[in-house]
Amino acid sequence: YPAYDVLRAHAPAFDTPDGRWFVTSHALTSRLLRDPGLRVADAADYDGFWPTWRDNRGVASIVLSMLQTNAPDHTRVRRAAAATFTARRVAALRDVIAGQAEDLVKAMPAEADFMTAFAYPLPIGVICALLGIPESDRPWFRQRAADLTAVLEPISTEEEMRLADVAGRDLEDYFIGLIAERQGNPQEDLTSALVAAAADEAALTGAELLANLVLLLVAGFETTTNLLGTGIAILLERPELADRLRADPDLAPAYVEEMLRYDSPVQLTSRSTTEPLDAGDGLTLPAGAELTILLGAANRDPARYPDPHRFDPDRTNIQPVSFGGGAHYCLGAPLARLEAQVAFPLLLTMLPRLSLATGAERRDRLVLRGYATLPVTTT
Ligand code: HEM
Repeated sequence: YPAYDVLRAHAPAFDTPDGRWFVTSHALTSRLLRDPGLRVADAADYDGFWPTWRDNRGVASIVLSMLQTNAPDHTRVRRAAAATFTARRVAALRDVIAGQAEDLVKAMPAEADFMTAFAYPLPIGVICALLGIPESDRPWFRQRAADLTAVLEPISTEEEMRLADVAGRDLEDYFIGLIAERQGNPQEDLTSALVAAAADEAALTGAELLANLVLLLVAGFETTTNLLGTGIAILLERPELADRLRADPDLAPAYVEEMLRYDSPVQLTSRSTTEPLDAGDGLTLPAGAELTILLGAANRDPARYPDPHRFDPDRTNIQPVSFGGGAHYCLGAPLARLEAQVAFPLLLTMLPRLSLATGAERRDRLVLRGYATLPVTTT
């Protein structure tokens, strides 16, 4: 965050000698994310700069998903997905979330790594419940989802990319089987609803169905894990604020918004221009500009949030850009929020003595920010 401050003080957006633009201010980030003139790198772009990308099935799953697709295809696919992943479906998961969270708390040892004991298993359990994946397959899914997240990072090792490829292949095979099962025998889950949508190829092709099932698993997993890990660390470092939330669980939505702002689980996203773009405030981006939009910097912009480095759930008008914005605004934001809003009061109430132990370590990543280990004690 100090580095972001230096960059933001330099300019709300600036370019580097290799032609990449960095966006640091909240105002410009909000405006650009909504600008229909900006695009994400899609399959055609990947063909240009990485002709063999399809050989890595982890990369292929994500590039072929809605995350890396532009209008008009994006509009069509997103519409089909949004029509199935409805507010009602998310609300119906409240009891599932609470039940799984309670089970995890009951099983938590007196000395635990919060990430292993809670922050990883809850989101994967909830997504698997959403998609209709049986409980016995969840550990298998967890490992593959974790391996696949390497493709969301701009820099990964060769070994990480190999594991992402294996995970992509495994997940595609699994989902092909699940889709075939649901075609013959629909259930109440999101997979069945998406399979039904794909019965109309004009709405969603088979390849799009597969890629977006993998995306749902990957996009909703480590992001939410990091919100849970970061959020509990914030609370346990501030016992008086934790006490307030324990006493009044209705404060959970405000706390969660401030957690998202204060330590964004996704730190950056990318866009590019095809034509010169008037970004406002006298700034014109040239055609072909590659943009790195620093969501984590925008969330700590003092022009938008006074005293930005203070965690303050009493702030009014918190609108973190942690879920992006515009056409690609996170489809799972209501689910992520619900999970966190249920989990924190439940943890504080069931484990009144929960506290941080020494040895916390951050994951060494650029995009997904969170803890690798977060030791806690419960007694
Ligand atoms: C997109 C963040 C949880 C599904 C995004 C984007 C961000 C984001 C920043 C937009 C990327 C861009 O504009 O380039 C987060 C965070 C989460 C979270 C911080 C948790 C705290 C979830 C969950 C799901 C999900 C739980 C689903 C189960 C998606 C999907 C997209 C997306 C499908 C692509 C939307 C599109 O391209 O139209 N997310 N996400 N996310 N997210 Fe999330």
